[in-house]
Amino acid sequence: QQFDFGMIGLGVMGRNFLLNMADHGFKVIGFDKDNQKTSALESDATAGTTVKGVGSLQDMISQLAVPRKIMMLVPAGKPVDDVIESLLPLVQKGDIIIDGGNSHFTDTLRRVTWLQGKGIHFMGIGVSGGEQGARTGPSIMPGGDPEAYPHVRPMLEAVAAKVDSIPCVAHLGKGAAGHYVKMVHNGIEYAIMQLISESYDLLHRGLGLSNDELHTVFDSWNKGDLRSFLIEITADIFLQPDDKTPNRLVDMILDKAGAKGTGKWTSQDAMDLGVPIPTIDMAVTMRNLSALKNERVHASTLYPENRSLIGVPKEQFIQQVHDALLFATIISYAQGLAQLHKASTELDMQIPMPQVVSVWRGGCIIRSTLLGLFGNAYKTNPQLSNLLLDGGVAKILQEKAAGLRAVAALAIQHSIPAGALMSALSYFETYRSNQLPINLLQAQRDYFGAHTYQRIDQEGSFHTSWGKK
Ligand code: 6PG
Repeated sequence: QQFDFGMIGLGVMGRNFLLNMADHGFKVIGFDKDNQKTSALESDATAGTTVKGVGSLQDMISQLAVPRKIMMLVPAGKPVDDVIESLLPLVQKGDIIIDGGNSHFTDTLRRVTWLQGKGIHFMGIGVSGGEQGARTGPSIMPGGDPEAYPHVRPMLEAVAAKVDSIPCVAHLGKGAAGHYVKMVHNGIEYAIMQLISESYDLLHRGLGLSNDELHTVFDSWNKGDLRSFLIEITADIFLQPDDKTPNRLVDMILDKAGAKGTGKWTSQDAMDLGVPIPTIDMAVTMRNLSALKNERVHASTLYPENRSLIGVPKEQFIQQVHDALLFATIISYAQGLAQLHKASTELDMQIPMPQVVSVWRGGCIIRSTLLGLFGNAYKTNPQLSNLLLDGGVAKILQEKAAGLRAVAALAIQHSIPAGALMSALSYFETYRSNQLPINLLQAQRDYFGAHTYQRIDQEGSFHTSWGKK
């Protein structure tokens, strides 16, 4: 029996991805050190599909058709290097090793070069959509050697989510591009989740809406221009009962967020590239602030607040929050995509932007009807440096800006933190300003450090002996 595809690591993501592939007619084989997981793989397989679980890597490698296509879904970091080390004596030139986890792109780049020297193709592939997505159709972000891609393309296209029959997978660039795109996907994911949470705060604490009312609001938003996976699950969350108390589960969850690091990596690399992504940065910061629960509880006693409910008529305020959220969500995508645009050339990844937004249309956590709008923008100009420069996007932002301004003002008046929403507005106001106060900042730099400045009326660098009359 020759198998088409091998998976190392049969945790829920690896198992579901592999079973999905088998459902599409491919013969698949999986390896895990844990025997229970290898037998679970076989017992979960759909009747009539070819799925085998084995307990040794050697067993798996010897049964794979050449060139071998081997994917691993193991925790990022050392486990990935360990798997590669143990595969090296078993594989041969031309084989393809795929890392489908959330690895840091610099690790992926190092592994690509390392294995290239041995004639082995290494591909970093971002997979989004959680457990359910892996089983029924994830969004897949492959990067790496374009020569290797045709070998895995039919399988990836078969398992990927489909939107209008188009599979949500495409070769997204050289080297570590796949993992880079997935990292930025997660940065945008962090931003949108934070924006939705702030909108919830404004409607719940600010306006006094109940969970049932919140469900109704988010459910109706999910039928309009905010339609997306994250809005859909948010509407659901408000209805979930708690099985330990008579309350809704959302009210029983501690307000302290975890993070595995991909959002932080996005911010870190944006800083390195000099790309401003303040809404993503703010989302990372807000998770960090949330984690300081004990300090926050202490501070709340030092700085007590008499919060009054927001007095704006209900329907009006709900509409303003809707517009604010839509505006800030677009800004978050714009920031992340601007980062990809810069990384594409700066890190020589050659990321095709139209394909990125097409791959994100289905299966992934940030799938949203907005991606259709962005697709049109890149169709008009594939080299667009920022979505804000697109006419279609500009029209919506113009319409919705008033909502965000009103919401930001009310948040300030009512002491409701809304850092991500406000960051989106200040990014917008700054980006669209043809004059910033940075002339003064440049003067200061030159004053104390002779850093020089440019003039508006002459070419060249200038320095002044400031303060001397
Ligand atoms: C996905 C998700 C998934 C996960 C991230 C973020 O696309 O399916 O992005 O990869 O949610 O790892 O997790 P944290 O919120 O724990 O950082």
